Amino acid sequence: SGGSDHQQHHAHHASGSAGSDQIEVAALTGDISAPADKTFELVAQRKKMTLASGAVIDAWTYNGEIAPELSVQQGDMVEVKLINQDVDSGVTIHWHGYNVPNAMDGVPGMTQNVVKPGQSFTYKFRAEQEGAYWFHSHQQASEQVAKGLFGTLIVEPKEETETFDEQFTVINHRWMTDKGHINALGNEDGLQWKQVQPGETVKLRMINTHNLSQKYLLQGADFRVTSIDGMKIQDPQPLSDQTALRLGSGGRYDVAFTMPNHPVFLKLGNAKDDSNPGIVFYSGVKPEKPVFRKETTLFDPSNYGQPVVNEVTSTVKFDREFQMILGNTMGFYNGTFHFLWTINGEVYPRIPTLVVKEGDKVKTTFVNKSLGEHPMHLHGHHMTVLKKNGEKVKTPWLTDTLNVMPGESYEVAFVADNPGMWMDHCHNLDHAATGMILHLMYD
Ligand code: C2O
Ligand code: CU
Repeated sequence: SGGSDHQQHHAHHASGSAGSDQIEVAALTGDISAPADKTFELVAQRKKMTLASGAVIDAWTYNGEIAPELSVQQGDMVEVKLINQDVDSGVTIHWHGYNVPNAMDGVPGMTQNVVKPGQSFTYKFRAEQEGAYWFHSHQQASEQVAKGLFGTLIVEPKEETETFDEQFTVINHRWMTDKGHINALGNEDGLQWKQVQPGETVKLRMINTHNLSQKYLLQGADFRVTSIDGMKIQDPQPLSDQTALRLGSGGRYDVAFTMPNHPVFLKLGNAKDDSNPGIVFYSGVKPEKPVFRKETTLFDPSNYGQPVVNEVTSTVKFDREFQMILGNTMGFYNGTFHFLWTINGEVYPRIPTLVVKEGDKVKTTFVNKSLGEHPMHLHGHHMTVLKKNGEKVKTPWLTDTLNVMPGESYEVAFVADNPGMWMDHCHNLDHAATGMILHLMYD
C-alpha cells in the first residue's frame, strides 16, 4: 500500500502561497531523496509474553518485544519498514510527538492506508529533533496500544551538552490480565533492582503509554527534570526528593540525578500504595524494600527552568484563536449509548475542523469542565504553554500532550509550520475511541 495516492489526495487547495495554488507534495513527504542512514524493520505480530512479574499476556507487538527501542542520531535519515504479520485489524506507526512531515504521520484513512496482514509500509524521515519519543499504532489505537503495539524512538543529540553514566527507559504501561492490571515494570515483588555506583550520573526517560496520568516519587537524591516531551529545559534547577511528578498519558519526562552513597527509589503511585511497582537503584548489598514518604510538592513545568522564548511567546496578536471546552454528556456513539467526552459539546466527526494557513500563529484555549483529565495531543507540532488558569505562566514550556485536569484551563500556541491534515485528540485513547477527536487542516 503505497502512500503516494494519499499524498496526491491531500495536496489541499491553498490560496495565497505565491505562484502556486497547492501545497507541494514534497511538503507532505519531506525531502526523502537521500539514502537512509538507519534502517529498521518492525513486524507487527501477536505474541504470548511473560512479564517480569510472571504474568502471561496475549500481547500485540512490534517484533515480538515490549517497547522495542529505535535509537538514531540527530540528523540521520531514518527508514522504518512496517510489516504486518497477523494483526487482523491492520496497523500503522504514528511517531508520537515527533514532528514528521504529514505523509509519515501514520494516521490510517488520513495520511495512509491501514497496513493489513501481509502488507507493508515504509516510513522515511529525517530525525531533526533530539530527545526521547515513542511510537504506536494509530489503528483502533485504544485497543492496539493497550495490547502492546508501541515502542520508543530515542534520538541522540548531535552535540551532547551533558552525558550520563547510566540511562534507563521507564515505561508506564499496564496490561489487563485475569489478575487485574499488571504493569510492564517490576518483577514479582513489584520492583526492579539496578546496580549504580555512587557518583555516577543517571538519566531516566519516563514515558507514559497508559491512558491515565501517572504519579511518580523519586526519593533518596535531589533530581532535575531535563526534558519534557523531548524538549530540553534550559537551566533545570534541582528539585527536592519530596517533589512528586505527574506525567500525563502520552507524555515524557527526562529526569537526572547523581547516585549518592545510599539507595535511590523510584515509585509509581502514592507513597503508601503497594500495588504499584518501582525501581531500586543501589550499589553493593541489596537494600531493604524501600519505605516511601508522602511528597510535599508537585512538580509544575509552568514554573521551572528558564522560559521558552519563540515566535509565539513574543506574539500579542494571533492569526487564529480557538477555544476547546472539554465536557461530558450521555449520548449515542456508533449506535450505542455511552458516557461521552466532548469538545465544545460535540463528538467526532461533528467537532469543527481547525483551519489554518501555513505560517499562522495559532492560539488554543483548553477549558476542562468535565469530570475527567484529558491529555490533549496535537500531531505534527509542539505547543507552547502560555497561560494556566487564566494567568501567564512563569516559564512558557513546550509540550505535545498537555494533560488538562478537571477545572483547569490552559492557553497554548503554536506556529502552523507543518502543512497537511493532522489529528488533535485526547490521548486517553478510550476517550478518543468515543469521539474526543478533531482535525487541524491547512487551507
Ligand atoms: Cu500518540 Cu494520535 O497519538
Ligand atoms: Cu479525554
